[in-house]
Amino acid sequence: MLPRDVISTGPLILRPPVEADAEAMVKACADPVTARFLPLLPMPYELAHAREHLAKTAETWAEGGATFSITENGQFVGSITARPPDQWGVTAIGYLVAPWARGKNVASTAARAMTDWLFDQGVRRVDLEAAVDNVASLRVAYKSGFREEGLRRDAKRLRDGRYADMVTFGRLSSDAAPAGEPYLPFFDGGQLSDGVVRLVPLAVEDAVDFHRMLAEPSVAAFSATPPRTLEDDEQRCRYTGYWWVSGQRIELAVRDAASGAYAGHLQLTQVVPALGQAVIGYSLVPAFRGKGFMSRAVGLLVDWAFTHTALHRIVAGTDVANAASHRVLERAGFSREGVHRELFPKPDGTRADDVAWARLRPS
Ligand SMILES: CC(C)(COP(=O)(O)OP(=O)(O)OC[C@H]1O[C@@H](n2cnc3c(N)ncnc32)[C@H](O)[C@@H]1OP(=O)(O)O)[C@@H](O)C(=O)NCCC(=O)NCCS
Repeated sequence: MLPRDVISTGPLILRPPVEADAEAMVKACADPVTARFLPLLPMPYELAHAREHLAKTAETWAEGGATFSITENGQFVGSITARPPDQWGVTAIGYLVAPWARGKNVASTAARAMTDWLFDQGVRRVDLEAAVDNVASLRVAYKSGFREEGLRRDAKRLRDGRYADMVTFGRLSSDAAPAGEPYLPFFDGGQLSDGVVRLVPLAVEDAVDFHRMLAEPSVAAFSATPPRTLEDDEQRCRYTGYWWVSGQRIELAVRDAASGAYAGHLQLTQVVPALGQAVIGYSLVPAFRGKGFMSRAVGLLVDWAFTHTALHRIVAGTDVANAASHRVLERAGFSREGVHRELFPKPDGTRADDVAWARLRPS
């Protein structure tokens, strides 16, 4: 049985919930993000629901679980719960933070402190999972010392009726102190722009434009992957935040800064921290070609990467026949490094040679 302790961590106090939390809980749950990612919460969430929940917290404790209100300066700012540890000393936590208290490390501080407290009570392992597009919660998991362990496809139905892929995390009492900063930080202000092009994270709203562009014969001719459905491309767009926050890759929509129109796609992928190397890839909608858009976009991304990440080499591969792409890389400061013979499988069953390019971190 877990003790009904009070946990003090930095500016936060985690304490068992009390009846007086009800009104703040109602306000905290009147929020579209909470509604979306916690589909089992009644919506609209009313005072009666909060009171019913609070009445049940005694049961949670009696059954061996733990539930705390997260408070700051005596005010309710969120909730965090652990289910009863099983016979192997494994539990799982879940949390929510009131909209007015988000983005100030409340969830990550509380999740770290509660997990440390659970270890003190003899728990061996704590599970945590978040939907692949719940970027805030994914970031909380990394920040509070959890390691990513896998993906459960279509594992949870969100309120909009869509099944979401869930990222699973675990923290063991024996784990070494976790890494702090992400390998790929997000863009300050959410975008990069030089006034002509604007780079923003690829979003589900871009899926139709993205899909149409990939199907365009002049793009498909240089792609090594088979054509995908719109649904596949929508799903891919949902992964942008997860891939970024987990340090795997950056997926961007290139927009015309003046009109905001979708102009193309740019990615930084195959990130290998041990080598300090990543690969860039790109495609432009035909109507935006011939204006230097992609050279600008690649230049912006690569300059950002050498300023904000530890990457040392950014490389690219282009089909030997793709003269426009060679120009983009030359203009963006890349140098030719050689040729990989017969690297690219082509849709017609042949293979094309690949010119290898790289730009190195400025010394
Ligand atoms: C998930 C949740 C608890 C996070 O609470 P929080 O107190 O804001 O979390 P923290 O401040 O500790 O960390 C949030 C991180 O996500 C980042 N973040 C938030 N929204 C983001 C977005 N759309 N894109 C990128 N990063 C985002 C924040 O910048 C912060 O990271 P940083 O410190 O590196 O800048 C809160 O959003 C919430 O209650 N959501 C609804 C319920 C929910 O999803 N619960 C979890 C279910 S698994």
